[in-house]
Amino acid sequence: MRMYDIILKKRNGGELTKEEIDFFVEGYTRGEIPDYQVSALMMAVYFRKMTEAETLALTMAMAHSGDMLDLSAIRGIKVDKHSTGGVGDKTSIALAPMVAACGIPVAKMSGRGLGHTGGTIDKLESFPGFSTELTTRQFIDNVNRIGIAIMGQTADLAPADKKLYALRDVTATVDNLSLIASSIMSKKLAAGADAIVLDVKTGSGAFMKAEEDARALAEEMVRIGRNAGRRTIAVISDMDQPLGFGVGNALEVKEAIETLKGRGPEDFTELCMTLGSRMLIAGGKAECVEEAAEKLENAIRDGSALEKLAEFVEAQGGDRTAVYQPEKLPQASIVRTVAAPGDGYVNRLTCDEVGICSLILGAGRETKESAVDLSAGLVLRKKAGDYVKAGEPLAELHGGDERRLKEAEERFLGACVLSDNPPEKSPLIKGVIS
Ligand code: URA
Repeated sequence: MRMYDIILKKRNGGELTKEEIDFFVEGYTRGEIPDYQVSALMMAVYFRKMTEAETLALTMAMAHSGDMLDLSAIRGIKVDKHSTGGVGDKTSIALAPMVAACGIPVAKMSGRGLGHTGGTIDKLESFPGFSTELTTRQFIDNVNRIGIAIMGQTADLAPADKKLYALRDVTATVDNLSLIASSIMSKKLAAGADAIVLDVKTGSGAFMKAEEDARALAEEMVRIGRNAGRRTIAVISDMDQPLGFGVGNALEVKEAIETLKGRGPEDFTELCMTLGSRMLIAGGKAECVEEAAEKLENAIRDGSALEKLAEFVEAQGGDRTAVYQPEKLPQASIVRTVAAPGDGYVNRLTCDEVGICSLILGAGRETKESAVDLSAGLVLRKKAGDYVKAGEPLAELHGGDERRLKEAEERFLGACVLSDNPPEKSPLIKGVIS
């Protein structure tokens, strides 16, 4: 078998066999197939798409490209959660401690930023000293001891996805249903949780912009999960504007901390409650959404969720005092306000563009090797539907480089569309597939 023939077959619209998919996944994982050939294949998949059978074969090949974690040493029903990626999506940082405080063991594997979206691992590294490089033993021990552990993708867990994820990030090949479904589900299957709750985003900040595409992605992932014997639920949620107000690593961590104090943005809190309720039900800690919501609200009210975050940060080498004193998190050297150019309602905050502003400010990577500025990003002062007068702040930009701040400001003004009439309100939660 030759990689050239596989690329050619897909480029011409053919359906790859399981053997061909196994060949390229194994060869790429072992370093025998170079990045440039896999980039070409990814671009061919992007344009030609994959069938359900190809997507399943790719998922299984990537899941088995390394170790399959055995989490049977963790007591209770392990529930994992994964988002398809968004802007300002700091959900795991608030949600994991919320559900862990309610007795659900959270054993989660997370990723870094991808395309215009942020990643949980980069965000968590805002805590000074924090590490997601855990051995399997530490991962399991931490979950048994404090109820929560989040690790990055090690070289041993779905290594094929790790390599492909980094490659897709810099070759404009992220937003394809089969590539996203196989990337997420291969990690989730390899990471060994009993139940999986997926947050599938739709809108201008999501990889699946159209709601019907997001629904198809959700259905595909639920099908893969079920075939693999894992209870899988997908929530379809809005990503047509950033979630909450903060976008950028440390800025998002601060907002997650505020949410655990009961002072979070309305949309972000609603999403945490929706996903958290499903996790509690899947983990057998609640019979219905109302009972689950009450437990989650209690965990916020009595401070146990916030303390769980501190325990988790400490268990992974981070400075737990930053949870109670968020000013210890990285702070940008320059904070600049973007003023509204006129009066009007914020009609649109084109979400991927806002994500790109954050990348320009330094919150993401331009190449696989780039370093991330944890303090960089932006804080929205207005969201869609808010009224603003000329000169009033629309957002704060956080960065360390004048040239980048100027570029981000221009881009932000292009992303924020004002109008005389308020836009139609669209619901945050668009559906649940289980
Ligand atoms: N999240 C992932 O883990 N992979 C993707 O491809 C997109 C979002």
